[in-house]
Amino acid sequence: IIASFQTKVLRGKRLLLTAGPTFEAIDPVRGITNLSSGKMGYAIARAAREAGAEVMLISGQTALAAPYGVQRINVLSAQQMHDAVLSKIAGQDIFVAVAAVADWRVTNASEQKLKKNPDGSAPALSFEQNPDILATVAALPSAPYCVGFAAESENLLQYAEAKRLKKNVPLLVGNIGHETFGNDENQFVLFDVEGHTSFPRAGKLQLARQLVAEIAKRITKTSH
Ligand code: CTP
Ligand code: CA
Repeated sequence: IIASFQTKVLRGKRLLLTAGPTFEAIDPVRGITNLSSGKMGYAIARAAREAGAEVMLISGQTALAAPYGVQRINVLSAQQMHDAVLSKIAGQDIFVAVAAVADWRVTNASEQKLKKNPDGSAPALSFEQNPDILATVAALPSAPYCVGFAAESENLLQYAEAKRLKKNVPLLVGNIGHETFGNDENQFVLFDVEGHTSFPRAGKLQLARQLVAEIAKRITKTSH
């Protein structure tokens, strides 16, 4: 009983997070997405709830059930994810951006299903950049404590710390993209103002619990 009480390190805190991929429509039945399974974000939602937080999950399309006690809002596109996050951000203590958000959306998506051209030519798609949800939240006047993720394929130490500074977030979790997407295991490097710390390869739930503990340590040190 005492041990479980002591692990409720986020008791009374409200935590909002994004998870999974986004889906950018090309036409009513097709679109562009990515290989994020949502497992890492859902594991963090579960761990935060176990730690006593009131958790709300804004999720792209995944095959996962919402963790016990976690409120979920389902979205498809990056723009929908952005709008859902901003509509729920007031009063949140912590925001964790785990989703693999599409950087671009298709500007000339078709209202009708595209048909093949008789001449064999392919459709031309054009793109524009999606809003950066994490950077937008971090720049709010009363921003919650913000945690970002960075899946890099190379130069993790330089790229991840640069991303942390650019998005102006106190904590960023770096991992190697192709080692995490769809996997049950992952490996973390945590970046904050004091430098970086590596966490050994482990199951996503175990890493999620470690991350929740790290977040709790930091928010009790700051005014958030
Ligand atoms: N993110 C976000 N909104 C976006 C893009 C990214 O909230 N439109 C968040 C992700 O959820 C993640 C962090 O920002 O927490 C970093 O995402 P990443 O794709 O690594 O960074 P980008 O700024 O998009 O840079 P890159 O050009 O390397 O993709
Ligand atoms: Ca990106």
